[in-house]
Amino acid sequence: MSASSSVAIQRIRSVAELREWRGPAGDVGFVPTMGALHDGHLALVERAVRDNEGAIASIFVNPAQFGPNEDYRAYPRDEERDLALLERAGCHSVFLPSVAEMYPPGDDMRVVPGDIASRLEGAARPGHFAGVCTIVAKLFGMVRPTRAYFGQKDFQQLRVLQTMVRSLALDVRVVPCPIVRAADGLALSSRNAYLGADERARALALSGGLLAAAKAWVQGERDATALRRTVEAVAHQAGSLEYVSVADPVTLREVAGRAERAVISLACRVGNARLLDNVLLGMTLDELAEL
Ligand code: PAF
Repeated sequence: MSASSSVAIQRIRSVAELREWRGPAGDVGFVPTMGALHDGHLALVERAVRDNEGAIASIFVNPAQFGPNEDYRAYPRDEERDLALLERAGCHSVFLPSVAEMYPPGDDMRVVPGDIASRLEGAARPGHFAGVCTIVAKLFGMVRPTRAYFGQKDFQQLRVLQTMVRSLALDVRVVPCPIVRAADGLALSSRNAYLGADERARALALSGGLLAAAKAWVQGERDATALRRTVEAVAHQAGSLEYVSVADPVTLREVAGRAERAVISLACRVGNARLLDNVLLGMTLDELAEL
């Protein structure tokens, strides 16, 4: 495994090459992605480079996690741009498998998550988290990382994958990393590329609503309904709100009444984009990492 950021990033396309690269020893930090990289991904990569002897990212647009009417075909793909960004972030290697490499003939196994995946994104996108868990479990088996880095922006994905690692006793540490936002507050997402200028301006109401709830929390508001209404009052201006949830950050069950800790998350359609955002209250990401 190469540990220098001054050399060109190593491109690995097959599982056989990946196994050779991995070798028997050494700390490896892993950042799984679907490409269309932005500063949120690059923050994960920089952390992986800092924490480990070797850092590897993967770029694979996973068909199994998209529904039949979702944006699998339209998902933005620009391999050369992504590789230049990874190289600049000091990433040593990148795994770029084909669909046939990840789902070879004879593939007949899925990782199906339980209760933690049943609500919110799981309810809105049936089968999505089985697709995510299956591909991440495969990638973990191939890369054998010491640590894997996931962003808070996809909060439920983070919790589902933590639960998978614990339930299947996988030998990898999931490292949750904070949401990276544009200067005006919009959470970075590959799907922001679908927004026109007007839509992007309207989308600021999403982080605006969450910020209003976070302020209310700091001022002592703990009632889940009041917190949800505070978000909705602002965020509805962005587009068509699918849900605003005030849930326990560990179980993701909705809080009824008083919240001692909460993740307030939302999904909203803004033009052709379906955007997610959230805020974690009364619990830190470091505490979440210890679950
Ligand atoms: O968050 C993503 O980009 C994807 O869901 C992941 C974790 C790379 C699995 O395909």
